[in-house]
Amino acid sequence: MSDRNNTALLPVLSAGEIAEIDAQIAHVPQRSAVAIDALKIVQAHRGWVSDASLRAIASHLQMSADELDGIATFYNLIFRRPVGEQVILLCNSISCWIKGCDQLQRQIGEQLGVGLGETTPDNRYTLLPVTCLGACDRAPVLMVGEELHEDVDAAALHKLFARSGGGA
Ligand code: FES
Repeated sequence: MSDRNNTALLPVLSAGEIAEIDAQIAHVPQRSAVAIDALKIVQAHRGWVSDASLRAIASHLQMSADELDGIATFYNLIFRRPVGEQVILLCNSISCWIKGCDQLQRQIGEQLGVGLGETTPDNRYTLLPVTCLGACDRAPVLMVGEELHEDVDAAALHKLFARSGGGA
């Protein structure tokens, strides 16, 4: 069961998180090799990776916090700020830009009441920009949680977030 709603009550790393990270470490020659997996594990439990969590993970992996932060920053599916229950990753790289990602961003703003970097008041969605998601031939593209949506147009977007009815 996820403990993402109780982050304030958690010790820096829970026994469950440590066990999951250690299970990954068992398969590799050095602890730092599981850096991304460890970040994902903690994020799955807490929804994001705070500075304190990052320091604890780095310590457990016997690497520096700066080194791990560099990895976390490079990997755009690790969230270093609190996010909503689902993250909308809107690709704004060249193919998606040509195919109208700006218009999608405006429509998301109208439907959900959020701009880039913002979270809906009900904490349901956070909208973030992302570089190329590797589906340029199906641009414009966005992800909602783990799900990739391709060839997104106004109608698809409206349907996707229709149940939310605006967050503002
Ligand atoms: Fe958007 Fe590649 S530019 S998926």
